[in-house]
Amino acid sequence: MEIHGLVCNEMVSSKAICYEDSKTLAMLKSVDEKPISMQIFGSDPESMGKSAMEVSKLCDILDINMGCPAPKVVKNGDGSKLLTDLGLAKAVIQAVVENSSKPVTLKIRKGWSNENLVYKEISKIAEDNGIKAIVVHGRTRQEFYSRES
Ligand SMILES: Cc1cc2nc3c(=O)[nH]c(=O)nc-3n(C[C@H](O)[C@H](O)[C@H](O)COP(=O)(O)O)c2cc1C
Repeated sequence: MEIHGLVCNEMVSSKAICYEDSKTLAMLKSVDEKPISMQIFGSDPESMGKSAMEVSKLCDILDINMGCPAPKVVKNGDGSKLLTDLGLAKAVIQAVVENSSKPVTLKIRKGWSNENLVYKEISKIAEDNGIKAIVVHGRTRQEFYSRES
């Protein structure tokens, strides 16, 4: 039996795709491995919808990042910061699912902190709004990449 893996790219910014950076799309277009899951991040539903339309043409699965803990990402409200605003997270999910021509999946953390564990709520929102699979990074944003939990 032949076994096919799944190639995943590193997350790309929806704002970069929409506004500034033709290089980002060119880089994504140059990937010729398949099947491939491409991951986008951002907290503006409109930019996320537009990038979903573009990036889904290039991949087999489109993944939304709601797990990244990096300060430069969360300071813009992106990545794991979305776990602190489930209304906005839902709007992002809806915009991406509506505009993607490919199945959409979601990467999350358990929550922002142990006082804010939202994995059950966000999973329900995701399921109700057309997300086909969820990957949970089993740490909170506060735990960053620590080995203790
Ligand atoms: C340098 C670095 C870059 C990462 N980039 C991404 C990314 O682009 N998208 C993503 O979903 N996860 C990303 N991750 C998170 C990993 O995919 C994984 O969820 C995380 O490291 C937890 O696995 P562990 O418990 O084995 O460390 C990154 C992690 C590191 C350390």
